[in-house]
Amino acid sequence: MAGRGAMSAADASGGGAGGGALAGRRVVLGVSGGIAAYKAVELCRRLVDAGAHVTPVLTRAAERFVGPTTFSALASEPVRRSLWDDADPIPHTRLGQAADVVVVAPATARVIADYAAGRSADLLTATLLATRAPVVVCPAMHTEMWEHPAVQDNLTLLRRRGVTVVDPERGRLAGGDVGAGRLAGPATIVAAVERAVGPRDLEGWRILVTAGGTREPIDAVRVITNRSSGKQGHALAEEAAARGADVVLVTTAPLPGPAGAEVVRVDTAAEMQEAVLARSDACDAVIMAAAVADFRPKAPPDRKIKKDEGPPEIVLEPTHDFLVDLGNRKPPGQVLVGFAAETEDVLANARSKLERKRLDLIVANDVSADGVGFEHDTNAVVIIGADGTEQEVALSHKRAVSGAILDAIRATRSAP
Ligand code: CTP
Repeated sequence: MAGRGAMSAADASGGGAGGGALAGRRVVLGVSGGIAAYKAVELCRRLVDAGAHVTPVLTRAAERFVGPTTFSALASEPVRRSLWDDADPIPHTRLGQAADVVVVAPATARVIADYAAGRSADLLTATLLATRAPVVVCPAMHTEMWEHPAVQDNLTLLRRRGVTVVDPERGRLAGGDVGAGRLAGPATIVAAVERAVGPRDLEGWRILVTAGGTREPIDAVRVITNRSSGKQGHALAEEAAARGADVVLVTTAPLPGPAGAEVVRVDTAAEMQEAVLARSDACDAVIMAAAVADFRPKAPPDRKIKKDEGPPEIVLEPTHDFLVDLGNRKPPGQVLVGFAAETEDVLANARSKLERKRLDLIVANDVSADGVGFEHDTNAVVIIGADGTEQEVALSHKRAVSGAILDAIRATRSAP
């Protein structure tokens, strides 16, 4: 019988990471200049106690509130304060690349605004821009500033980009005022950091992900393609890599792949097929998030068709559906996942593809709905299992949706 469960992606991905999630993880702790900077000392100690390797980065204003020596004594690494502190010419890139998570506590209105605008004003904001790790921002400021639409709009933008914002609490503020804007408590922040880092539960897995729409040549300069941006496939690859998987990403999208992954850049359905079939047998999971063309122009000339030749008649031929091949040759234990981007009869169409292509899971999305599917940073999907289970993931950032899909893949593999 079909089971149906609805959950938010926040519950689905990394929820309940609990104790031990931070052990051995590299945390950059950004501290900006507010009265709450002194509370970051306690946060630093708690992160170190949880087993994290903490590198504090202080802004110049933060130093007016709390001494770098205190942090250096407590943290795993000396405090970093500027892009020009030491011999390393690119400290922000190194910090950003090595981090498993970046936490900014307290985050002032200035740091939030610079980060939202993509402005690298100091080592902290440069590190925020140079990282692909999850980011947790913990604002603290006076109530009037906290409630200002400029601050709220910047935070909305950051949330939309997948940043976790830990809202401040109500309470006593600097100067004796009382209201919203007090930095969240250290336990709340540590829990948010644990959730953002998520478990490394895919260590030992090799996962192949395809991404983007294929481009089929009409002639030497023109192509037929579709509106897939590759964002969902790349988010899946990023999330799988962050959870410890060995990732192969076969993509048409001009987006960066996760650090350490094998990234294979392709254009056409035929190139994608060759790249995937050469690598799929060795993988524990194959996720076909790419929008592969169903038809391609037959015999495209390898020269440019000139305008004065008149409108060309483009004859199409079907491409080969290699997801069917993957279903037929699936090694024991491999989890095979397809995507179904639909505009009508979403679930029925997806279920029929699941059966026809002998998949373990299919991810169905209604691409005609607002904020869903092609080109958006967000998605809303239903993950359907071959056993009839259906799990709805409400509209969330594509990285969070990826977490839910990877959870379903793990559950499928460990099912008896
Ligand atoms: N797919 C594939 N090779 C193709 C076409 C599709 O591997 N030539 C894969 C896609 O990557 C996706 C799944 O099959 O994971 C479903 O693709 P979709 O285009 O939605 O389904 P089709 O079977 O092509 O059916 P239709 O176009 O009628 O919706």
